[in-house]
Amino acid sequence: MQQLIYVSYASDDFQSGDVFKIIETSARNNPTRDVTGFLVYAHDTFVQFVEGPAASLDALLDDLKADSRHERLEVLERREGRGRCFPNWRMERLAVSGGDARILEQKLRQTEISQATIARLVETVMTPRMAA
Ligand SMILES: Cc1cc2nc3c(=O)[nH]c(=O)nc-3n(C[C@H](O)[C@H](O)[C@H](O)COP(=O)(O)O)c2cc1C
Repeated sequence: MQQLIYVSYASDDFQSGDVFKIIETSARNNPTRDVTGFLVYAHDTFVQFVEGPAASLDALLDDLKADSRHERLEVLERREGRGRCFPNWRMERLAVSGGDARILEQKLRQTEISQATIARLVETVMTPRMAA
């Protein structure tokens, strides 16, 4: 059982409503792959935590890298986990809004993701992106 967390950014191909579609697709596909986790979308930034067998995470990463709705995907941590943290979450959307990222911080503290990465991610989703 591995845990993986990455950050990526909505691309020009991303449309409003896509987050809903992504959650739907994930809920359909992830049980087959034995993958669970959560997704945050805030300030044009995605943070996704996924857990499952290593081969499943590799396959998901291949799909994610080919998905033109986001770009600059950067895996921040990937590690062996002692067990599954979110067994009931096929892919839960965590609402980070109104400048409140406490839910993200709280959920990540239930995982084995390092405190340094958690702090960096909270900062990232709280900061509006500059116009390119
Ligand atoms: C930020 C982001 C997160 C995603 N997370 C998942 C996921 O957890 N599981 C999944 O199957 N697809 C996820 N997708 C969609 C995949 O990139 C891809 O579109 C999908 O796996 C294709 O599935 P389909 O062939 O059943 O349409 C995500 C896409 C984005 C942009």
